[in-house]
Amino acid sequence: MTVGSLLVADLVIAVLAAAGWLGGGAAAAARRRPLALGLAAFALLATVARAITITALARAGWWFAAEKVLIAAPLSLAAVVVAGPRLLRAPGDIRSVAVPLLFAGYAESGALLVTVLHGYPASAGTGLLAVAGVVAATSVSWRVLGARPSRTVSRAAVVVAVAALVTGTGLAVAPDAAPATPHDHRHEDGRSVGEPTRRFTLTAATATVSVSGRDIAAWAFNGQVPGPELTATVGDVLEVTLRNRDIARGVTLHWHGYDVPNSQDGVPGVTQAAVLPGQEFVYRFRADQAGTYWYHTHAVSDVGVRMGLYGVLVVRPAPVTGVDVTVPVHTLAGLPLPAPRTEPVEAGVPVRLRLINTDSTTHRYALAGTPFQVAAIDGSDLQGPTPLVDTAVLIPAGGRYDLVFTAPATPVALFVDGRVVYSTGPVSAATGAWPVLDPLTYGVGSPVPWSRFDKEFTLVLDRGLDLHRLLPRYAHTVNGAADPNIPPQVVRLGDIVKFTIVDRSLVVHPWHLHGHHVLVLSRNGKPATGSPLWWDSFDVRPGDVWEVAFPADNPGMWANHCHNLAHADAGMTLHLMYS
Ligand code: C2O
Ligand code: CU
Repeated sequence: MTVGSLLVADLVIAVLAAAGWLGGGAAAAARRRPLALGLAAFALLATVARAITITALARAGWWFAAEKVLIAAPLSLAAVVVAGPRLLRAPGDIRSVAVPLLFAGYAESGALLVTVLHGYPASAGTGLLAVAGVVAATSVSWRVLGARPSRTVSRAAVVVAVAALVTGTGLAVAPDAAPATPHDHRHEDGRSVGEPTRRFTLTAATATVSVSGRDIAAWAFNGQVPGPELTATVGDVLEVTLRNRDIARGVTLHWHGYDVPNSQDGVPGVTQAAVLPGQEFVYRFRADQAGTYWYHTHAVSDVGVRMGLYGVLVVRPAPVTGVDVTVPVHTLAGLPLPAPRTEPVEAGVPVRLRLINTDSTTHRYALAGTPFQVAAIDGSDLQGPTPLVDTAVLIPAGGRYDLVFTAPATPVALFVDGRVVYSTGPVSAATGAWPVLDPLTYGVGSPVPWSRFDKEFTLVLDRGLDLHRLLPRYAHTVNGAADPNIPPQVVRLGDIVKFTIVDRSLVVHPWHLHGHHVLVLSRNGKPATGSPLWWDSFDVRPGDVWEVAFPADNPGMWANHCHNLAHADAGMTLHLMYS
């Protein structure tokens, strides 16, 4: 069983246990004896079963089980101790066990709320709040059911509830060392890179674009979605003038995967101010990295990219030989882009397909009709890629794969999620059952270039309740906090930095660090054995633990976030900062 499915199983069992106890309590109160005994027995079993799931999760990593071990386990134990023996005595008047059963139900529910609303890390504050809630709910039930608890018991309950509530609230909302909000750290501007050799102008504006024969209201660069394809040759100096005609919430250009100087990175509020209607901003940087990249707005990025403010950036080492095609996949108003394209290619011609996922979720790509190699991922060439046949690749949000092959005499087709987007002729293939490439074992390995790390950070990805400008929201969190309250990770120029990224939530988080590429060290305890993978976008799945590292060689203040942009906007963004 994977850790991801254990997380789900544990949650389901906890819900069943809570429901069983509460239902049993209610049935007992209504003197429905067989129903009460049945539900309570079921709840007892479920509660005991959780000991197994919690132990297994704790063994997979403390991050997955911290609050379950520290808060849910003691509360469940209390539930079993209070309700279990009374049940076994099978009382003559079933109503007499209603309160103990309800207590067990509140205890299970309280622990469940801690997991769902707070998650990792466990805190004394949330534990105490849970206890306060359980005691209060039990006391109320006791009254309502007309039982008369002795004075001492009810006084004790009030004291415990109030003390737990007060301390718990104090601990839970105490201001944590509030991180300094990153602001305008400019280290190098675009002027020192030399005379521009490639100039482009991108004008952002609302536009109506036609997709599969339908008119779609979009936000577009130069009236088209995707925006113009920007191409350059290694060594060029790019100068891109961004203008905003009427995007009220502002635009910027972020060069996704391109490790530009910090001042050119295009993150509003961090490296520049958003470009408002009527304004412009000039980006300038040297094209030192060859490969497949893309650009997109980083102002209200979730909405902005979804509405169409993105395009391709390709930097080639030399002029194109053979066929070189970019396939930026996107979903615009529910319709898939790009439109399918068919063009015959003469046998023997080298073909490179540059696949780009500009959506917020993973896509599955399958190339039918030819053996191929994955030549590069996220702009970095792979070492010793071997030929693949009938194998699919999964590209995370923001990620890029370059597939290469020599055109055969028969047609070839590229499927994205089962739909043909590019072909050299008619191909019928059922690609749905193909195995998926694991890049961590693909190609030829090299030893990790470092033997020690100067800085190590752990990022535990989860969900939790968060106060955002005093409004509660169910945020996507990192280490229990949400943007802008996640402390920045501080490094020094020259440090070798290691990230351990843990997903204890139930959804995928495509992780993306700006300004750097990270080398994948391991996934779920297994070292990467294939070609060195220098990535800027990778999927961290539920239950996954990734270790990646990089040299801190690009000073500034860098966004470090989930590239499911809705998650990023709902809290899952932090910053890497050079001291
Ligand atoms: Cu492509 Cu900060 O994003
Ligand atoms: Cu995410």
